[in-house]
Amino acid sequence: MKELLAFEQVSYHYDSGGEREALFPLSVRLYEGEKIAVLGSNGAGKSTFFLLANGVLTPRSGTIRLCGEAIGKKEKQRMQLRRSVGLVFQDPDVQLLAGTVEEEISFGPINLGLPEEEVRRRVEMALSYLGLTAHRSRGPQYLSGGEKRRVAIADVLAMEPQVMLLDEPSSNLDPAGRQRLEDTLDDLHQKGMTLVIATHDVDFAWRWADRVLVFHDGQLVRDDTPEAVFAEEELLCRCGLEQPLLWRVAKALNIPVPKCPEELANDQIGRKTE
Ligand SMILES: Nc1ncnc2c1ncn2[C@@H]1O[C@H](COP(=O)(O)OP(=O)(O)OP(=O)(O)O)[C@@H](O)[C@H]1O
Ligand SMILES: [Mg+2]
Repeated sequence: MKELLAFEQVSYHYDSGGEREALFPLSVRLYEGEKIAVLGSNGAGKSTFFLLANGVLTPRSGTIRLCGEAIGKKEKQRMQLRRSVGLVFQDPDVQLLAGTVEEEISFGPINLGLPEEEVRRRVEMALSYLGLTAHRSRGPQYLSGGEKRRVAIADVLAMEPQVMLLDEPSSNLDPAGRQRLEDTLDDLHQKGMTLVIATHDVDFAWRWADRVLVFHDGQLVRDDTPEAVFAEEELLCRCGLEQPLLWRVAKALNIPVPKCPEELANDQIGRKTE
């Protein structure tokens, strides 16, 4: 697999954070086509990791590499990082600035200097992908929380980044909105996009991710498959996480852990007919 993004001993502390390190030296590599869930309790360092990965924050020490090339202080390199690694912010209000949804989504592609026709194509693609066509002329500030989140995702999608980081994208979404988000993520993944999602939803992480990063107190404490991470009860407890519901149900029934409720139902029907 091709390496896209590498952190080599990257650390960060906020000026306003006192003595506290937001991120201790972190080394991790992200590869093309991965579906990664980033877990950790409040203040664990997930958003800080994302802000560094997309170049909003600059490491205090260590090196970030994009496709092997070290990102230094040069504006051109930092622009390349922002272009390749899209970030959907935890709080959409931080991200949404323009007068209308359509203007908001076109802002990024225009800034990339793309021809008008290409900007239009990308805006239409992002609007329809996120089911926002009917909202195109509305002011983002007047949308509901879930609609704002969809605009924030469309914003980044229109940039067509190689890696998309989504910081708790399902908060504020109703069940239909969550399903639409998961369908969109599946679609993007099939098109070859690398996806990294910070979430408190362990059930989602279990059914969706093929790799899980666990942060705790500013440190990456586990980087493994969902199967390995969720089997470690002591680790989950220490990091303020819980096992997915299907793990708890499967354990109570003493059966292998299914990926989705449908698998569980099939297993139980199979048992009854044995
Ligand atoms: N702008 C800031 N100024 C000072 N300290 C900050 C700032 N943003 C975050 N921190 C601190 O950095 C640490 C890591 O915060 P971060 O936002 O990365 O956590 P998180 O894992 O994203 O948490 P959450 O699940 O609540 O979003 C915390 O101790 C937090 O208080
Ligand atoms: Mg956060």
